[in-house]
Amino acid sequence: MKKSDPARAIIEWQKQFGRHDLPWQQTTEPYPRWVAEIMLQQTQVKTVIPYYLKFMSRFPTVKALAKADREEVFQLWAGLGYYSRAENLHRCAQEVAERYNGVFPTEISDLVTLSGIGRSTAGAIRSACTDIPSPILDGNVKRVLSRLLLIGDGLSASALDKKLWLAAEEIQPKEEGRAYAQAMMDLGATVCVRNRPRCEVCPLQKMCRACAEGLQESYPPKKKR
Ligand code: ADE
Ligand code: SF4
Repeated sequence: MKKSDPARAIIEWQKQFGRHDLPWQQTTEPYPRWVAEIMLQQTQVKTVIPYYLKFMSRFPTVKALAKADREEVFQLWAGLGYYSRAENLHRCAQEVAERYNGVFPTEISDLVTLSGIGRSTAGAIRSACTDIPSPILDGNVKRVLSRLLLIGDGLSASALDKKLWLAAEEIQPKEEGRAYAQAMMDLGATVCVRNRPRCEVCPLQKMCRACAEGLQESYPPKKKR
């Protein structure tokens, strides 16, 4: 292991301190992993769990979801918020049924053509299902990377995004994509949190530029209006 390899450091950390018992972690099938990722986009893990379980028992396959009544999909979603996600979820299931014969794809280039799946969600699904590292850049990962590498000062929102995507590609490991993706999300959710990050227990502390300079809470920079 290279002394300063952040990917290795957080994979080791995740084995000991990360989450291993979330219901969707018990499968590497793309359909349930996709449902979980869409639910997790704007909603916390503990809220998502009962919705995910109910949803999977009512719609165990992508074909079952594709055939469902819109009304029923919305009923099962009620309370999760951001209802365009439910709309896209139903549409995406129909796209998979029609264009992929009901076989949920795992390649990024296929995933991003489906309704409601952006580049980061595509990376999360591919990492989870294939174990091949694929860059992810959700809100949690943005925060970790911008602090670790001190990325953001004076950049426009789009330049910041571009730099963070490059960083996400550079930093990812050559293998253990599943553990790595989960590690990044867990680190962002439990250690490198927005306010008062817990640097003293962070596996990246020795390599983190924001921590070295005491600038943790200034990164990522607030969006300019
Ligand atoms: N947030 C987004 N995706 C997640 C996942 N797979 N596990 C935990 N938190 C997440
Ligand atoms: Fe975040 Fe602190 Fe870890 Fe840096 S050392 S990645 S600021 S928790």
